[in-house]
Amino acid sequence: HALQHLHTFALNNQCQNFVEITHLDQLKTQSFTLPFCLLGEGSNTVFLNDYLGSVIKMATKGIKINERENDYLICVAAGENWHQLVSHLLDKNIPGLENLALIPGTVGASPVQNIGAYGVELAKFIESVEYFDIANKAMMTLTNEQCQFGYRDSIFKHALKNKAVITQVYFAIPKKWQPVLSYGPLQQLATITPRAVFDQVIQTRNSKLPNPYILPNAGSFFKNPIITNQQLADLLKSFADLPHYKYGQNHHKVAAGWLIDQVGLKGHRVAGIEVHKQQALVLVNHGNSEGSDLITMIRHIQHTVFAKYNIVLEHEVRLINKDSECQIYGEPA
Ligand code: EPU
Repeated sequence: HALQHLHTFALNNQCQNFVEITHLDQLKTQSFTLPFCLLGEGSNTVFLNDYLGSVIKMATKGIKINERENDYLICVAAGENWHQLVSHLLDKNIPGLENLALIPGTVGASPVQNIGAYGVELAKFIESVEYFDIANKAMMTLTNEQCQFGYRDSIFKHALKNKAVITQVYFAIPKKWQPVLSYGPLQQLATITPRAVFDQVIQTRNSKLPNPYILPNAGSFFKNPIITNQQLADLLKSFADLPHYKYGQNHHKVAAGWLIDQVGLKGHRVAGIEVHKQQALVLVNHGNSEGSDLITMIRHIQHTVFAKYNIVLEHEVRLINKDSECQIYGEPA
């Protein structure tokens, strides 16, 4: 089965077997022998090669809204599209998620990497996550705390990797709307309404992030690195304009896009893979490219940034080789 249209980076590879889950009953009879790979819309996963296993796409639908005293509890099936949920809730006069407008992908994938943008992380709104436990063939529920959310991180990337299929996500959205306007373009809004924030986020994203359905890409390719306060202080002596954000007491997050931009790699190309000219953190695929070209690109970026800043860039996008997920570090090819 072709993988090109199952992941937004759109490398032209094949998988041995493809299954679409439209009813939760299917999970009980589905074989989960490794290798298998769970997928939503494939906007944060790249298949580097032909995949010698099953790709299992979650495509269940349904949104239920329950009103409580101070908030709404929204129960959403894994296969719902994220942006459509944000938009639907805004139409129903339940604002809160608008900073996360236009993030590609499904609701079921959203807790895995704790999606975030413009000063808001998904974790802020999650009450609980229901999943199918593969070993016990039973539905289980984790509270927000049990999900162990971090920056682009959760238990689903660690202890529950390959063990859980997220089936429903429960969001608690407060009735009292509290806009988050700390991010640059949102500070300049003349009238502050949920719709205005939503529209501004969409406009900002459209101005620098390529639409993955028009120009294949997987969003931010690397994580913004987290460094110690001491390392930041040392770097600022030589690079005073390095963008940085406080992260806990002892760390700062620095802008990976800025680092890649400053080493002059915007527009750098390996075969059809290019560092996006408007946002250096995004890699785009113009076609005629293979997984090996992408690996060459990743290593080149990691080497170049490390040589100048002594910072290791970790890819945020999940890379799948022929039978498992893999991590690329900057060793020479
Ligand atoms: N910058 C440059 N050159 C570039 C890109 C960025 O100098 O080519 C500078 C910007 O001027 C800014 C800073 O780097 O000062 C940060 O850039 P930006 O605001 O565009 O955000 P980001 O840190 O690159 C993160 C998320 C995005 C999210 C935006 C907005 C990660 C890995 N990425 O990007 O999330 O939309 O903030 O909140 O945390 C994603 O995860 O796929 C994603 C797109």
